Amino acid sequence: MCALLKRGAFDWTDVIMYTIGVWDGHDSGAVLLKDGEIAYAANEERFTKRKLEINFPSNAISAAIRNAGIKPTDIERAAFTTTEFSKTIERVFPIIKENYYQFRRRKMLKPGPFDIKHNHWLKYAMTSIGPLPGCVAVSRASIAKNLMKSGIGNIKIDTVEHHTAHAATAAFTSGFDRALVITLDGVGDGLCGSVSTFENKKLERRLSINARDSLGMFFEQVTNIVGMRELEDEGKVMAMACYSYPFQQEENKLHGFYDVTGTRIRARYGWHKQYRMLENIAWSMPREQFSYMAQQILESCLVKFISNCIDRYGIRNIALAGGVFANVKANMLIRRMDNVDKWYVFPHMGDGGIALGSALYSEYLHTGKCSYKFSAYTGESYTQDHTEQIVKSDRSLSYSLETPMEQAAHAAELISKGNYLMWFQGRMEYGPRALGDRSIIAPADSESVKEKLNLYVKKREWYQPFAPSVLESEVKNIVEYDGKGYDRYMTMAYMVKKDLRDKLKSVIHIDGSARPQMVGAENPTYMELLKKVRKETGLGIVLNTSFNLHGFPIVMTPEDAIATMKATKTRYMFMNNLFITNKAGV
Ligand SMILES: [Fe+2]
Repeated sequence: MCALLKRGAFDWTDVIMYTIGVWDGHDSGAVLLKDGEIAYAANEERFTKRKLEINFPSNAISAAIRNAGIKPTDIERAAFTTTEFSKTIERVFPIIKENYYQFRRRKMLKPGPFDIKHNHWLKYAMTSIGPLPGCVAVSRASIAKNLMKSGIGNIKIDTVEHHTAHAATAAFTSGFDRALVITLDGVGDGLCGSVSTFENKKLERRLSINARDSLGMFFEQVTNIVGMRELEDEGKVMAMACYSYPFQQEENKLHGFYDVTGTRIRARYGWHKQYRMLENIAWSMPREQFSYMAQQILESCLVKFISNCIDRYGIRNIALAGGVFANVKANMLIRRMDNVDKWYVFPHMGDGGIALGSALYSEYLHTGKCSYKFSAYTGESYTQDHTEQIVKSDRSLSYSLETPMEQAAHAAELISKGNYLMWFQGRMEYGPRALGDRSIIAPADSESVKEKLNLYVKKREWYQPFAPSVLESEVKNIVEYDGKGYDRYMTMAYMVKKDLRDKLKSVIHIDGSARPQMVGAENPTYMELLKKVRKETGLGIVLNTSFNLHGFPIVMTPEDAIATMKATKTRYMFMNNLFITNKAGV
């Protein structure tokens, strides 16, 4: 028997069941369920330092096993997702996905017109094909072979369909007993979306949307055409759109590219033709106008589609997942719909979250469990001793020991005096956002600090806004909060109250919106910091941006954090009870 006996238990039937969830595509990762609870979740990029890693998550699997203190052979079941034709081919010939990764991230010279390995036509031709006979068997054999390299052999392996994995993340972590579960992305297993009902502890697919009609692919193409990286910079397109003058729908040159009738989304053109048409339209206008048009099309289609789905199925609580729902502005319009009672967006909504979806759906199939208390703090953590050893041996750093409460007060004092600082605590977050464990934090009212962060530390485009962390108890005083759901994960935009916009210049976008993390008891030290900031400044809010160098994943280890501190000449860092000063910091 591969399961591990609980320590101290004498009942031989009382065993711990371990399931590993694996995703080996864009933003690969691994998740470990221990007796049906989420024990560990992380993405491979944090280990390899390659943003949105595509290779098999061997490091994340090893870390999950190490964290649980078990042997690879203690794992009894594995689950993976996506067996479409292109993914299966990539599993057999990984060089294909590496070529696309280098091309997509623009880590190579611009390919010529006859470079067949590096162009979009190949991608569109390949990924539009769904699963074919034999794909499941070949994919399963590839996953089994790779698991075997991590020491995990002779286990049951479940295959989970791509949008089912997305849907499982949204439905099972939403806290809803009854919800309409909607997934929308670029493409996965021949589909770009799905609608399911979740009620009476059953998740049931009601409709699927063909890959050809993909709104995600549309936005991906727009991102590429405006000179940004597809599957990575879609948020920048959304941000840039706010700098355009507004159009009426009728003036929008992309009007007619998509049609929503009832619960059907229909693209007017196939992917190849759509790309050519978009290129031609973009040629004659500034990027921000083109971005605005694309954002407007996306928003209007989503609102109409979701509203029609709610009316059709009569369920007013919605749970959303899939990369399209990374668009916080579109999410805001969905939230405001009259027929939405409560909303939930799974925090790791893109493909980076489907290792979890695979594991949760596998557990659902075997045990019927369909409700989880989700926490984003599921990754690596490091002891104070480990951290102290590293800092002690580095003469360019000085440090002192502080309790968590002392750190909160000290950090708040520095922030209220106009400093930014690095904040590294506890377990690493799962998902695209830094949520107060691997964060860079700064005053919410200082435009000069915002400029400094943008130009010298994060090296981001000027039009990208920073997001705030806000005390949960104070959200209603800061944004136009409607009570339809709390957002602890920065998945939703809200309009900031007009009388506060001048005081919160570094955390709001040009349209007056913000994407807040609402902080409560799930992160007590960070909550305490915000309380102290409120005492110093009158408002429990700080700027919170991810702790990383431009183009790299969020830091994972103390070593990563110190290297980033030095590279950005940052003066202050709070790390696991240590207050660290970089002597060369400015
Ligand atoms: Fe997806």
